[in-house]
Amino acid sequence: NVIEKGPYRHFMLKEIHEQPDAVSRVVGRYIDRAERTLAQSPPLSFDFATLPRMTVSACGTAYLAGLVGKYWFESLARLPLDIDVASEFRYRQPPLQPGGLAMFISQSGETADTLAALRYCASNDQHIASVVNVAESTIARESGSVFPLLCGPEIGVASTKAFTAQLTTLACLSLVAAKERGTLPDGAFEKLIDALTALPAALSQALLASDDIAEIARGISKAKDVLFLGRGALYPIALEGALKLKEISYIHAEGYAAGELKHGPIALVDDTLPVIVIAPSDELTDKTVSNMQEVRARGGQIILITDPKGAAIHGSTAAQTVILPQVHSFIAPIVASVAIQLLAYHTAAMMGADVDQPRNLAKSVTVE
Ligand code: G6P
Repeated sequence: NVIEKGPYRHFMLKEIHEQPDAVSRVVGRYIDRAERTLAQSPPLSFDFATLPRMTVSACGTAYLAGLVGKYWFESLARLPLDIDVASEFRYRQPPLQPGGLAMFISQSGETADTLAALRYCASNDQHIASVVNVAESTIARESGSVFPLLCGPEIGVASTKAFTAQLTTLACLSLVAAKERGTLPDGAFEKLIDALTALPAALSQALLASDDIAEIARGISKAKDVLFLGRGALYPIALEGALKLKEISYIHAEGYAAGELKHGPIALVDDTLPVIVIAPSDELTDKTVSNMQEVRARGGQIILITDPKGAAIHGSTAAQTVILPQVHSFIAPIVASVAIQLLAYHTAAMMGADVDQPRNLAKSVTVE
């Protein structure tokens, strides 16, 4: 089967547009839309209800998906989650409580460091689970429970649909865990189910921001450095925004937790530095907006990625605004992912970069 680009200029753009379908398949696997509840899932090799702790290891974009997962598992399921990049985890001999769950996230299922981390956990009395795209991969074969991404082959070296499928899988699993652990207040569970059910349509709507984002990319393509800020579960999306941009456009970018701005990166702010603030409206928006004001007072150019409510209240602080659909804050990181992917894509495409085959990068890193 030859995979074609169809009407798209690059595989990356095609894969960005496949995301509503990809996440719809994931949601369909875990959520019974008609009954507004969880679907009957295949039996697991572990029990969420009695798990003492979860350990997640992964590399690159998959690691950042896991970092978002930490916010969900800890806040919704009250399940402590340790996460590290696999290349650090595997060598530092972390003590692991017997009976814990070790989860590995990998598009290819073949990343050498992630596999080594898996084997370390397997020999340290952990239940092994993996979130993988390639079902017949080594990581999948060595796992007791496998959560497939169901997003089809990903050709672009920069991961897009695998990332949002990883996020959606982790969001669904955090809800499974929360239900089994009985940690959600009355009524919260149904709201979160509804949020996930609304996700595919929200991603389709987010894709409509593509032209506005292409306009913003014009300015970004002239920058030497770019700063991405986010708070809470949007912080890893800021990291992913910076990673995507540097991978394919070769512009230096850094992601920072918004609250850390004044502990370092603010020293870089001047009128040549675009600062991309990922801040859909939630209970923490006000805090992030005060960070935006600090940037603006120093001449920084703010690009605000938000939703209609956020734009109405805070849009005036920003030089440019991307408006994403209004969604439940639970799924906002997944929706915001589309915006940062499109920003990296348009910037790189505009600069004439080889978007699908960025220099020095490999799709799958099977050497250490
Ligand atoms: C490489 C790819 C990244 C990917 C990472 C982990 O660096 O270029 O896009 O996130 O490996 O790969 P995996 O297959 O384990 O998700």
